Amino acid sequence: TPSVLFDNHGRPLEYVRLAVTDRCNLRCFYCMPAEGIEYLPKNELLSYEEMERTVRVLAGLGVRKARLTGGEPFVRRDLVPFIGRLSEIPGIEDISLTTNGVLTAPHVPELARIGVKAVNLSLDTLDRTRFHRITRRDELPRVLDTFYALLAAGIQVKINAVVMDGQNTQDLVPLAELTRELPVDVRFIEEMPFNGGSHAAIGIPWDHRRIREHLAENFPGLTPVASKPGATATDYTIPGHLGRVGIIAAYSRTFCGTCNRIRLTAEGGLKTCLYDQGVLDVRALLRGGASDLEVQEALANAFRFRAANGFEAEQQRPLHQLSFESMSTIGG
Ligand code: GTP
Ligand code: 5AD
Ligand code: SF4
Repeated sequence: TPSVLFDNHGRPLEYVRLAVTDRCNLRCFYCMPAEGIEYLPKNELLSYEEMERTVRVLAGLGVRKARLTGGEPFVRRDLVPFIGRLSEIPGIEDISLTTNGVLTAPHVPELARIGVKAVNLSLDTLDRTRFHRITRRDELPRVLDTFYALLAAGIQVKINAVVMDGQNTQDLVPLAELTRELPVDVRFIEEMPFNGGSHAAIGIPWDHRRIREHLAENFPGLTPVASKPGATATDYTIPGHLGRVGIIAAYSRTFCGTCNRIRLTAEGGLKTCLYDQGVLDVRALLRGGASDLEVQEALANAFRFRAANGFEAEQQRPLHQLSFESMSTIGG
């Protein structure tokens, strides 16, 4: 197996996030406007063959974990056979998915068979009315079907709940309650201003400290546990609970120092930070006839220029240049 590649700040690069599509079947208001975003034409998306080839090259550079995101990954046709092919790439030890769960349930047995061990499920509330208001679609029942199908298949589930002032703060305790009887992790995420619109959300009422205080008031004995380097969440145990709760300081950004991840956007742009605008056009390389070795060199070279803290760099840009791109295009 290849040795791990380190970036210019000594951080290992082991984890790639692939946005397999920019499309989504929900319209979460913190992610995109009601009318949706302008979708890319199909030929501008990386094909499955192109993604597979890129992951193969990345695996040769030491990447071991691939997470498929979107948009909503299951909106793209024939996703599951693609996952099967990815799982056969030597060096790729871990394939995970981030999904909204609307279309996922029927595929769960096949995902388990392929060896997908973990799925992150986006779910901000257990209340059908509030789910409808937040996502602008009445799909909570199908998402819950997916949740129970995943548990039944023995796939590890992490629930991702974005905490929104005035929208779902009453749902934090009921969501955290799931961890009492179920082996599930529930992670609360600070809302980031990536909604495809242009509001400047500087300062958020529910930052990671406030979320922690709220949980501590409701769950005595809430205790932090050490997390792996590169983890987005700070995890906590609650006495007597099977699962854990976690807090992701996505906006305060407390985890840049150990960031081990790179991203490939749906159109094949390489991002070495959530906040950069794309540092390499992988699609152009692939379609321009580059050899695997040339692609490998270009990728390895891009890793030598990573920002130490992309968030700070972002904050120093003038306000009108801050990115308010939709999370659906970035790939989370
Ligand atoms: P694990 O592999 O389970 O640790 O998943 P993850 O937390 O890396 O990924 P997931 O797709 O579940 O994302 C959870 C939240 O973390 C989402 O809101 C992401 O947007 C956010 N997130 C993921 N990576 C980054 C990052 O590099 N920077 C910031 N600010 N947020 C991130
Ligand atoms: N702020 C924080 N998290 C977000 N997500 C989508 N948009 C935002 C945002 N503006 C989350 C989704 C999903 C993950 C990939 O990103 O809930 O779980
Ligand atoms: Fe779709 Fe996820 Fe964006 Fe919601 S947050 S609209 S589920 S991509």
